[in-house]
Amino acid sequence: MNATKTLTIIGGIARDSLNRRFFEAIQSLRIDDFQFEVFDVAALPFYNQDLELEPPDTVTQFKDKIRQAEAILVITPEYNRSYPGVLKNAIDWGSRPYGENLWDKKATALMGASIGSIGTFGAQQHLRQVFAYLNAYVMGQPEFYFNASGAFSEGGSFVSPQTREFVQKFFLAFKGHVELLTGASAERKFRALGLDRSSEAPTHQSS
Ligand SMILES: Cc1cc2nc3c(=O)[nH]c(=O)nc-3n(C[C@H](O)[C@H](O)[C@H](O)COP(=O)(O)O)c2cc1C
Repeated sequence: MNATKTLTIIGGIARDSLNRRFFEAIQSLRIDDFQFEVFDVAALPFYNQDLELEPPDTVTQFKDKIRQAEAILVITPEYNRSYPGVLKNAIDWGSRPYGENLWDKKATALMGASIGSIGTFGAQQHLRQVFAYLNAYVMGQPEFYFNASGAFSEGGSFVSPQTREFVQKFFLAFKGHVELLTGASAERKFRALGLDRSSEAPTHQSS
C-alpha cells in the first residue's frame, strides 16, 4: 500500500509551538507509511455562516485538502482542559454547509503535547466528543497523551527511546486503522496492538 495521504492539523499556532515541535520530532522518525501534509489553520477566518456559500480561498483550499486526504491527524495542545479555539474553528468549517460534513467517515488519529501532567487528556476527550458527532472514525487505541517538558533534543528529535518506540507503535496502529476502514486488512491492526485474533475467546458457540 502507498503512503497514506494524511492531512495534519496542528492546534498550536505559536512560532515555537510545543505541538509543532512534537510533529517535527515525529517527522524525524521518517514514518514511511504516511505522507503528512500540514494545513495552517491560523490562516482560516472565523467561521461565519454568511461566508458559507462564497467562502474565502483559504476555506476552499482547506476543504479540498480534507476531501483529498485518506486520513486526518490532529495534534493538539490543551487549553483550559479543552482544545484551542483555532482548532474548533477549523473543524466547524469542515463540517458545513449543512449536509456537507467533510469529516464523515475519515480515518482520524489524535495526539497532543502539553506541559501539564495529564498531557492533553482533557483536550482530546473534547475532540473525541465533537468528532463522534461528525462521524469521523477516530482511532480508539492507543491513545497518546504527552507531557513534553524536556522531551525534545536540540536536533529536534525525541530524547527518550521509549517515546520514539511508542510513536512508531502509534503509527503502526493508525496504519492498521486506515486499512481496516479502507478494507485492506484487519489483521495488521490487531497485530499492531499485540493481539492475536486466533487466540481470542469465542463470543458464541454454535451447536
Ligand atoms: C490559554 C492557555 C491555557 C492552557 N491550559 C492548559 C491546560 O489546561 N492543560 C495543560 O496541560 N496546559 C495548559 N496550557 C499550557 C500549554 O500546555 C503550553 O502552553 C503548551 O506550550 C501549549 O502548546 P503549544 O505551544 O503547541 O500551543 C495552557 C496554555 C495556554 C496559553
